Amino acid sequence: MTPPLAIDGKRLLQRLDDFARIGATPAGGVNRQALSAEDRASRRLLAELALARGFRVFQDPMANLFIRREGRFPEKPPFVIGSHLDSQPTGGRFDGALGTLSAFEVMESFEDAGIKTDLPLEVVAWTNEEGSRFAPGTMGSMAFAAAKIPDAWSELRGHDGAPFVEELKTTLEALPEAEMRPLGFPISGYIELHIEQAPTLERENIPIGIVQGIQGTRWLEVTMTGQAAHAGTTALAFRRDPMAAAVAALEPLFKQVMPGDPRARFTVGRFAVEPGSVNAIPGSVTFTIDLRHPETTVIDALEGRIRHACERAASAAGCQSALKQIFDMPPAIFSKDLLACLDRAAASLGLETRPMLSGAFHDALFVNRVAPAVMIFVPCRDGLSHNEAEYVEPEQSITGARMLLAATMEAMASGD
Ligand code: GLV
Ligand code: MN
Ligand code: MN
Repeated sequence: MTPPLAIDGKRLLQRLDDFARIGATPAGGVNRQALSAEDRASRRLLAELALARGFRVFQDPMANLFIRREGRFPEKPPFVIGSHLDSQPTGGRFDGALGTLSAFEVMESFEDAGIKTDLPLEVVAWTNEEGSRFAPGTMGSMAFAAAKIPDAWSELRGHDGAPFVEELKTTLEALPEAEMRPLGFPISGYIELHIEQAPTLERENIPIGIVQGIQGTRWLEVTMTGQAAHAGTTALAFRRDPMAAAVAALEPLFKQVMPGDPRARFTVGRFAVEPGSVNAIPGSVTFTIDLRHPETTVIDALEGRIRHACERAASAAGCQSALKQIFDMPPAIFSKDLLACLDRAAASLGLETRPMLSGAFHDALFVNRVAPAVMIFVPCRDGLSHNEAEYVEPEQSITGARMLLAATMEAMASGD
């Protein structure tokens, strides 16, 4: 007798544990950075699980990994569900993995129940969502949406110095079982399940967030250049200290940008000092700014303010300031039709939901440019993410997967 179409919660939780062991950190998180040995191991495990179930496995030139369950009409564009398997350096077990493994669980549920679908169904694990080792983030989905790998990436090096092209090649070669397919192809629609990474759902005790869109993100890199000199002998009047300039520029920005607009996000996450010697005034400092807001015009205005603050502080310290954009992701608004499918799916399960905007960026943002896309959020403890302590209650993971299953059925039935 075939089992009914349902999520196997025990299997899903076991898979989350199995994948959390790949790149596990002593503090209970994962370090599975993009295109690393650990990332390759997680891709291999997923591919092996898929092949064991008789699904076809593909990868494209960006190493985006696809698992396919055939539909009655193989020539039609597949419906795609998934997320990513790479992590932050001190990442959590659920960011990306929950969406990818729940998507695979949905596919297995269809298979277990012997359900035939008109459209092919595919699970995807996008390459380098995080952008921590290789910037920018969402490289896999970005290249997929453009059907092209940007030329500039051929020179790209990781934060650890690793050449992107080499690491990509090694990753592709590590999975010879996967059939190669071109980058970018028509898809009928896309749903991504993810943890909220903020505390709203938990605080309001709502199990499911229906994500209407994603706020914009811009990454800036500022380099301030002065003159390296002796820390003990150089009097203030003779210093051209880029650290003093950076502090002078950043201090008012921290005091004004976020306090002045509760929707703005301003983060300095990386700071490099050259030559980095205790007793030398730095010759240069380079820092990143992660800037986010739901409105592009506000991001533009904030970038202008940052540029001005850096130039003024640098000039007052006898230094130079150079600012460049290293990533720009305009805000996204998700498909109305798919949002309606999500509402119907939640109603069919009797789940309370809440509409929300995503503060984090996701691969769904780029997929949304080439196909209807939407996201589902589940709560995570204290809203904590990009942290090894990230945690999702087992029941909440299972509820998220049930919601993904119901939404996928709704969307595939409605021809999206
Ligand atoms: C994604 O990881 C983000 O930084 O929003
Ligand atoms: Mn993520
Ligand atoms: Mn993340």
